[in-house]
Amino acid sequence: MGFATDCIHAGQEPDPTTGAVTVPIYQTSTYVQEGLGKHKGYEYARTHNLTRRTLERNLAALEGGTDAYCFASGMAAIHAVLTLVKAGQRVVVSDNVYGGTHRLFTKVLAGYGVEFAFLDASDPARFDGEAGRFDLLWVETPTNPLLKICDIRALSGLARGRGAILVVDNTFMSPFFQRPLALGADIVVHSTTKFLNGHSDSVGGVAVARDEKHAEWLRFVQNAAGAILSPFDSFLVLRGTKTLHLRMPRHEENARAVASFLARHRNVRRVFWPGLPDHPGHAVHAGQASGFGALVSLELGSLEAAKRVLGRVRLCSLGESLGGVETLVSHPATMTHAGYTQAQRDALGITSGLVRISVGCEDASDLVADLDQALAGR
Ligand SMILES: Cc1ncc(COP(=O)(O)O)c(C=O)c1O
Repeated sequence: MGFATDCIHAGQEPDPTTGAVTVPIYQTSTYVQEGLGKHKGYEYARTHNLTRRTLERNLAALEGGTDAYCFASGMAAIHAVLTLVKAGQRVVVSDNVYGGTHRLFTKVLAGYGVEFAFLDASDPARFDGEAGRFDLLWVETPTNPLLKICDIRALSGLARGRGAILVVDNTFMSPFFQRPLALGADIVVHSTTKFLNGHSDSVGGVAVARDEKHAEWLRFVQNAAGAILSPFDSFLVLRGTKTLHLRMPRHEENARAVASFLARHRNVRRVFWPGLPDHPGHAVHAGQASGFGALVSLELGSLEAAKRVLGRVRLCSLGESLGGVETLVSHPATMTHAGYTQAQRDALGITSGLVRISVGCEDASDLVADLDQALAGR
């Protein structure tokens, strides 16, 4: 089936009891059994929930995976995937990943004897020379918030050569624009909080595996550790994915209008959006994704300039998160990436003048007008 058909139908059948076209919220903790060892395949809701399972089947189809497992947040999904790594093993991470991922790796999991190294993965040849041995490679592309691009095909070759697992956080692109498993990744994760849900009303995460071996472990960990996505959140994300193919082109069209406007503005020093032809990762991104997404970052030169713009926007809202139909603006240095040290932010270029925009689905002309008045008169 085509992508739009999968968004709407994959993994979903009308409810067998009533024929309800929408999968119900199975809000139950347990299931009545007919006799000892005799049941309908549902025993306890941490292990089995049909609303969650339907979403998992839907997301596995959209990412082209063997199976998918949904968790209480993007971070819980990332944590579950990291249980594939044991003490004494080494994880290499593309630099400037989401601050929460950096925090989990360096402040929690490093304490269990796993070694983490953060490297620029945007040049595969240089990365190959610098990375050394690793057991898992963790990549965001585009990265958060600098929109750096990593070549998924090339990195999957480097990971395979070391017998390592390649994991791609595909939150920024969604499977509408980029399908890392088809490019050689072993596992894809998402914060479903973002584009997959798309309406800023649920927190969740998913891990999608290409092979049954990894799917089986994720299934085991989901049940063993129990950080499951609730039935109601599963219902909300399922409702979100039904319109993913309609929302993403609009997000991107608006991002193009916003990025082009900002690139011409005299008060903006630099614009980061992979769709701009002079973006250093433009060609690599175009070779592995069908669109450039809705995250645009801009360098304003100082904290004062960033504060001024963030304080003056009216239609765009100041807030953490991204991927909803409403446009959000944020300040990575003090918000999403506050978990990095100042020195780490300086080294990466996450300056105090950097602002990130998650471009929503409003009228592009209204967004440009709002940014225009917020940037005016310096
Ligand atoms: C790229 C990326 N990955 C993972 C996460 C974590 O997801 P959650 O906030 O749902 O735990 C985020 C959150 O902003 C993110 O931007």
